[in-house]
Amino acid sequence: MNYKKALEHPIFKIISETTETLQIDSYVIGGYVRDYILKRNQHKDIDIVAVGSGIELAKAVAKNLPNSPKVQVFKTYGTAMLRYEDIEVEFVGARKESYREDSRNPIVENGTLEDDQNRRDFTINALALSLNKADFGHLLDPFDGVQDLNDKLIRTPLNPDITYSDDPLRMMRAIRFATQLNFTIETDSLDAITRNSERIKIITNERIVVELNKILESKKPSKGFLLLEKTGLLKHILPELTALKGIDEIEGQRHKDNFYHTLEVVDNISENTDNLWLRWAALLHDIGKAPTKKFDKKIGWTFHAHEFEGSKMVYRLFKRLKMPLNDKMKFVQKMVYMSSRPIVLANDIVTDSAVRRLIFDAGDYVDDLMTLCEADITTKNPKKFEKYHNNFKIVREKIVEVEERDRVRNFQPPISGEEIMKTFNLKPSREIGIIKEFIKEAILEGEIPNEYQAAYNLMLKEGERLGLKVTN
Ligand code: CTP
Repeated sequence: MNYKKALEHPIFKIISETTETLQIDSYVIGGYVRDYILKRNQHKDIDIVAVGSGIELAKAVAKNLPNSPKVQVFKTYGTAMLRYEDIEVEFVGARKESYREDSRNPIVENGTLEDDQNRRDFTINALALSLNKADFGHLLDPFDGVQDLNDKLIRTPLNPDITYSDDPLRMMRAIRFATQLNFTIETDSLDAITRNSERIKIITNERIVVELNKILESKKPSKGFLLLEKTGLLKHILPELTALKGIDEIEGQRHKDNFYHTLEVVDNISENTDNLWLRWAALLHDIGKAPTKKFDKKIGWTFHAHEFEGSKMVYRLFKRLKMPLNDKMKFVQKMVYMSSRPIVLANDIVTDSAVRRLIFDAGDYVDDLMTLCEADITTKNPKKFEKYHNNFKIVREKIVEVEERDRVRNFQPPISGEEIMKTFNLKPSREIGIIKEFIKEAILEGEIPNEYQAAYNLMLKEGERLGLKVTN
């Protein structure tokens, strides 16, 4: 079959002509071809394999491109990269040994296209389109990758034990592709992943997180996490999650399986947000439940202060996985820490002051927090389901109403510490904090409006109670 249509972008013609001049062969391979056949969004990265030097080809192509873009050479990997418009083109020489992003050894052994295809991760990623003049657009598919695309199957070109031990990250890539594309992993492959799961330990955390993020960004992330769990990979990567598995029973009292519950929450939230960090928050919102779980004869199972414990665990987890310890991490921590707050609200009559406190504590993230809590409703009881959702609707309406009236989001106290000091002629002291706190509480409780004059009057009153004298 001919796929000339996939190669309409002018870059392919230029690569083809350059290949011809250099008297070598070259092919487009991997994700670009796969996604073209799948009719997915156009792949922005193009991988070119040259039967010869990929670096030479990249340099020659750059010379033939308008404005001759810079070529970035990665000598250790034998690859070169250039940017043309919004496309990133990566060149590699066909090789006999495995594709390895993190290999420290220079690539020496050149191979044929077939050698190169053999050493790729999956049949669907080994599809190549010829850029050679004689058969431009011809598909080379030695392992029936197109059939696997039709059958929605993840399969390795070689014996899976070899493919996965060449690069154990591929175990996660298999699961990631299965999740992103909604494909099935062939049984032999799945068994090999299970057998080799421990080898994931030799892979850097950074590469692992790339795959985890892609799983989380999928339409239905639970598919990936279930596979990670089933193959034994998850306990090496995120033991905090596997610790949530299982249901204990004491004196006839059971708690829910918090692992499966968590996955439901992640799927729910993924229907309402593409924010990766909010999805992370959903994934981690209950991790504090494993270490805080206790059985109390009177009240049954408790997870006392699991939100606080969970938010501390978020930091350790991000650190371990070499994820950013920046505002994203703090956001996830905050979501985990506050994850039960609106639930308590929705169980009760929704008062203005409770909503005001929620806005005050959650700040700009109050909407995200509501989205998380709505996703957390996984009850199978339709009556309860409806009741909770209705209550959250009321909370959301109240948030808008209270926010418009009281502006407590990013709360700035109407009376500053300086003003308190001036009024009572005070040096920095405890009393200032007490008065400020008193005013803040009164505003949040709705006893006074969030306005200067009301706050000023209250300051005078509280000052008097503390035995302070007004000096001006
Ligand atoms: N590859 C591989 N083994 C890996 C990583 C990549 O064999 N561990 C090969 C595959 O042929 C893959 C190609 O290198 O198609 C490009 O890799 P990459 O850019 O990571 O993936 P894509 O297939 O392009 O897909 P995506 O962009 O969705 O990650």
